[in-house]
Order: sequence, then structure tokens, then C-alpha cells
Amino acid sequence: EEGGETKMRPPVVTVMGHVDHGKTSILDAIRKTDVAEGEAGGITQHIGAYHVRSKAGDVTFVDTPGHAAFTEMRSRGAQITDLVILVVAADDGVMDQTKEAINHAQAAGVPILVAVNKIDKDNADPDRVKRELSDFGLIPEDWGGQTIYCETSAKKNVGIDELLENIQLMAEMLELQADASRKAKGRVVEAQLDKGRGAVATVLIQDGTLRNGDYFVVGQYSGKVRAMRDDKGRPIREAGPSAPIEVQGLSGVPLAGDEFIVVTDEKMAKNVSQARSMK
Ligand code: GTP
Ligand code: NA
Ligand code: MG
Repeated sequence: EEGGETKMRPPVVTVMGHVDHGKTSILDAIRKTDVAEGEAGGITQHIGAYHVRSKAGDVTFVDTPGHAAFTEMRSRGAQITDLVILVVAADDGVMDQTKEAINHAQAAGVPILVAVNKIDKDNADPDRVKRELSDFGLIPEDWGGQTIYCETSAKKNVGIDELLENIQLMAEMLELQADASRKAKGRVVEAQLDKGRGAVATVLIQDGTLRNGDYFVVGQYSGKVRAMRDDKGRPIREAGPSAPIEVQGLSGVPLAGDEFIVVTDEKMAKNVSQARSMK
């Protein structure tokens, strides 16, 4: 395609772990550090993915509800996550869904950063968590391994800045690149039929820039970008690499993990989607 230039793009991060170990609480704490938004708690999440502008840099978080969604996406060849944050409660240790999360991440070849959460609790035992996770190959750096551990209390807002800094550190090592001058390519995170707006999809842009009026193919459907919103629900006209956005103008409701590709014109969009729906 057009010869542009590749630049670093923000990391796309998924938070996983056992039930009630604090995944949502950590994301809430992280969102409070969003320097673009300022004050705590005032951020409404409109879509299943959002962008945080922290002091350490930009990060896109994808809220996959449970591991099933992660597996589902992977089975469709969708590799949207650059990094997994594995949340383990310091008082509870490694549980069934912790192991599942490790399996999913390792099978997908996605690096894991561990957040040992709830360190404020009296019976917190972070060393036990490190020992248990070492059995799965997640050996801490200070024990001679390569896995970064962050001790956090989402409740008391401890270790959250450090967690963000380490996300950036790992992202830098991954050398994540994208070319904003290309036609956009991305993946569907979630999609639904909206009464007023028709088929609407949350798309994570993986490369290129998506603009109002672009023609696209998504799964077995096609369309033209009628309107876009960012993760805060604000209308936007274009979106670049790693941006999670909501797109309006689809001919049907695609599946999570479906590929979203901008094509040159309407005819091309219809031809490709027709060929795909006959398969
Ligand atoms: P599911 O989405 O249901 O799997 O749970 P989750 O992993 O998102 O956990 P969530 O954030 O809902 O937290 C579960 C409970 O743990 C809540 O009551 C939180 O208030 C509490 N909690 C979360 N983080 C901490 C922490 O750092 N310290 C303490 N003491 N409690 C915490
Ligand atoms: Na919970
Ligand atoms: Mg939760």
C-alpha cells in the first residue's frame, strides 16, 4: 500500500484473573489517573474498551468480560491484546481462573505482567503468590526470572502508578508499531443493534487511520462510516492506531473478533461482503 512511516503505537492491554481478585477495581483505579479526565470517578465508560492517557503514556484497555470472550476472539484469529495483566489477590493466591488466564495468555503468546492485588489485607502474602505462579513459569525478576510483579491495592490506590509505568516499560520492549497513513484495519471488540442508530460496533483500530465516509468490510458485512464516537462517547471524525471507537453505518451486526478493513469504494465493500456471506 501507500508508503508511509511506522511509529510506536500505544499498547492494548487485557486484565484477567480469578473472580473477585480485583480486575475491575484496578481498572477503576487506573482510570482515575487519566490526566485527560482529571477528577476521580467521573468517567463514563461507553464501550468495552477505553483509552487512558497516564503520566507514563497512553494505554488502551480492553474489557473482555471473562475468559470465554478472550478464547472466542482467539478462535477467530483475533489477536488484539499485546499484554495481559494477571490479577491475583494476595490473600487468596492462585485459583482456577488464575490458571485458566495463564493458559489463555501463554497459548496466545501474549506476555504477562502480574498484579498482586489486595496487599492492604492483613492476611496478604505476596511471596506465596510468587511461589505459586513460579510453578507456571512466571518467575519474578528478583528471583532471577523475567516476570514483572507489581504489588497493588486497588482499594487504597497503592502501586497503580508503578503498574502503569511497568505496562509502558513492557510495551517499549515489544516495539509496537503502526502506520497511521494507511487505510484502517482493526478488530471488532463487541457489536449490537441499536434502536436509533442501527448496527453499531466497537472497533479497535490496529493499523492506519479510519475516517468518516470510509467504506469497509467487517466479517460478512460491509458499510460506510456514518459516524464515530470515542471511548468517552464524544463524536470524532478520525481514529488512529490502538484507538477503541464506536462505528455506525454497518449493514449487519458482526461478531467479536471479526476483522474490520477499509476498502477503496462501495462496490468493493459489497463484493467482498457478498463473497464472504456465501461461504
Ligand atoms: P469479577 O469481575 O466478578 O471477576 O471481579 P473482579 O476481579 O473485577 O473484582 P472486583 O474489582 O469486583 O473486586 C472484588 C471485591 O474485592 C470488591 O469487594 C472490591 O472492593 C474488593 N477489592 C478489590 N481490590 C481490593 C484491594 O486492593 N483491597 C481490598 N481490601 N479489597 C479489594
Ligand atoms: Na466482582
Ligand atoms: Mg469485574
